[in-house]
Amino acid sequence: MENFKEIDAKEISGNFIKKIGDEWLLITAGDKSKFNTMTASWGGVGVFCGKNVAYLVIRPQRYTFEFVEKNPTLTLSFFGEEYRKALQICGSKSGRDCDKVKEAGLTAISTEAGNMTFAEASLVMECTKMYAQTLDEASFIDKSMVEKWFKAGDYHKLYICQIDKCWVK
Ligand SMILES: Cc1cc2nc3c(=O)[nH]c(=O)nc-3n(C[C@H](O)[C@H](O)[C@H](O)COP(=O)(O)O)c2cc1C
Repeated sequence: MENFKEIDAKEISGNFIKKIGDEWLLITAGDKSKFNTMTASWGGVGVFCGKNVAYLVIRPQRYTFEFVEKNPTLTLSFFGEEYRKALQICGSKSGRDCDKVKEAGLTAISTEAGNMTFAEASLVMECTKMYAQTLDEASFIDKSMVEKWFKAGDYHKLYICQIDKCWVK
């Protein structure tokens, strides 16, 4: 992780509601030989089972879903506003159909543990999956959300991931 500084998760500055919901992030899973990345704007950061965690929700039709399912670890990469276009590309094209990383103009790099992230990121979290469960209609207390977001029945899978390492620029 050249040009990055490792920090404790508690030292991360900023507001995660803004960072995730407004500024977005890339979820990346796989290794140098084969990986995929996608933009996400739903999720959160907090504490669960005594660990610092990030939670994500990924729809099963995403190519990235296959990589997240197969691998025990993943990275979350956050970027400055100048990479908005890159995140739009990674959130509208599928790695099944094109080389998204190239199209987005990002530079893939490997962590020491072999997970993939991007040289252009301003904050990177390396995570290990801890808990996963597919959302379901019966568990929605607010049923209007089902109507609004899940008409096609393509419920996201929720992943709660332990944050192992964090780096900033
Ligand atoms: C701003 C934004 C936020 C997104 N958030 C999510 C998300 O949280 N979960 C999800 O499953 N898809 C989300 N998507 C959609 C995926 O990023 C998109 O379908 C992507 O093309 C999937 O790529 P893949 O097939 O290579 O995995 C988001 C897209 C955008 C533009």
